[in-house]
Amino acid sequence: MSESTSDTRFIHHRETPDLTHGAIVAPIYRATTYHQPDPWQPPLYDYARSGNPTRHHFEEAMAELEGGVRGLAFASGMAALTAFFLLFETGDHLLVTRDCQGGTQRVLRGVFQRFGLSVTYVNTDDMAAMESARTRKTAAVLVENFSNPFLRITDIAQVSQWAHHHGLLVAVDNTFITPYLQNPLTLGADVVVHSATKMIGGHSDLTAGVIVAKDPLWAERLYFIQNACGGVLSPDDAYLAARGLSTLPVRMRQASAGAQALAEWLSQQLGPQNVYYPGLASHPGHQRCQRQMRGYGQMLTFRLPNQAAVQAFVGRLKVASVGAGFGGVETIVSLPELHCHAALTVEERTARAIGGDVVRVSVGLEEPADLIQDFEQAMAAD
Ligand SMILES: Cc1ncc(COP(=O)(O)O)c(C=O)c1O
Repeated sequence: MSESTSDTRFIHHRETPDLTHGAIVAPIYRATTYHQPDPWQPPLYDYARSGNPTRHHFEEAMAELEGGVRGLAFASGMAALTAFFLLFETGDHLLVTRDCQGGTQRVLRGVFQRFGLSVTYVNTDDMAAMESARTRKTAAVLVENFSNPFLRITDIAQVSQWAHHHGLLVAVDNTFITPYLQNPLTLGADVVVHSATKMIGGHSDLTAGVIVAKDPLWAERLYFIQNACGGVLSPDDAYLAARGLSTLPVRMRQASAGAQALAEWLSQQLGPQNVYYPGLASHPGHQRCQRQMRGYGQMLTFRLPNQAAVQAFVGRLKVASVGAGFGGVETIVSLPELHCHAALTVEERTARAIGGDVVRVSVGLEEPADLIQDFEQAMAAD
C-alpha cells in the first residue's frame, strides 16, 4: 500500500479560516459585493462570482490536499467537468475512460459533440487500446478512477507518462477514491476533478464539484472559465464541503472497513467472479491499487443471477437505502442500469455488460455486521 497521509491536513487547512476574529471554522460570507475604499487598487474580493472567502477556503484546502496550485469550486461535479471540457476547441479529440459515469457521457454527447469535440471511450488501463485510439487531434485523456461500476483501476503514472510524451493533458476524476486515498497530481496528472457531492460532502446533503490544477497556466484558464461561465459553488455549500473534508479520513476508514467485510462475505456467497472490489485479491486491479492508493475505498459492485433476483433483493433491504448517489454516511444500493448509467443507450450498456443483474453499493458507516445481516436476509430465498 502506498505511503499514508496525515489526517491533520484534512482538519487544518493552509488558509486561515477567519482573519478578522479568529473563528476556528470558516465563516459563511454571503455578500455579493465588497466595498472598495480605493477602487484603483484591485481588492482580493470584489464580486461573489469572481471570488468569495468561504469558497476560497474550500478551494485552497482542496488544492493543498491534492497537491495542486489552485482549486476551483463549482455548483456540482458536472459543472466542474464542464469547465474542464470547455478548455478544448472544435476539432479536438478526447480519450475518456470507457466505464465512466453516465453524466460525463451525457454532457459529451448532448452538449460538447455539438460544438465539435469528439470522444473515444477506451479502457484507460489498457495502453495498447489507448495507443490505437489516439489520433492527431487528441488533446487530452480523462481517466475516471475507479471506473464505474466495475472499479477498474488505471495506472495514473503510466498514463501520464505516455500522454505527456504525446503532448496530451491528463485529467483524473478522483471522486470515487478521494484525496484521502489517492492523489492523481502527485502521480503525474495535470488536473483532478471531484464531485464533492459524494465522499467529500459525505452526508448526502450537498451538491458540489471541484477542480484542482497542478500548473498555474491551467489554473488560470480554469479560473477564467469559472468566472466567465459562472457555475460557482455557493458560500453555504462551500462551508459544508470544507466541513466534510475534516471528517473525510475517519469516514473513509470506517466505510472502507465495512466495504472490505461486505465484499468478502459477498465473494463467499456469489463467487469471486461476481464481486468487484479492489480489496479482494481476486480483483484484477488489486496489486495496482496497492501500489497507487492508500486503501480500497467504500464502493463495491456485484452481480446477482438475474434482474428478478435483484428486484427481490432491493425490495427486502431494511438497513441500506436504494437510490442514485454514493459517498454518504448511510449505505446506498444503486442499480447502474436505472441510476448512474441511465444516460447510456441500451446498446452502450450491453457493450459494457451493465445489465439488470448488476448492483453497486456505496458502503456507509453502519456496523459491518449489521450490513452483512441485512444483505443476508435480503438475499435469502423465499
Ligand atoms: C465519478 C463522478 N464524477 C462526476 C459526477 C457528477 O457529479 P454531480 O452529481 O455532483 O454533478 C458523478 C456523479 O455521480 C460521478 O459519479
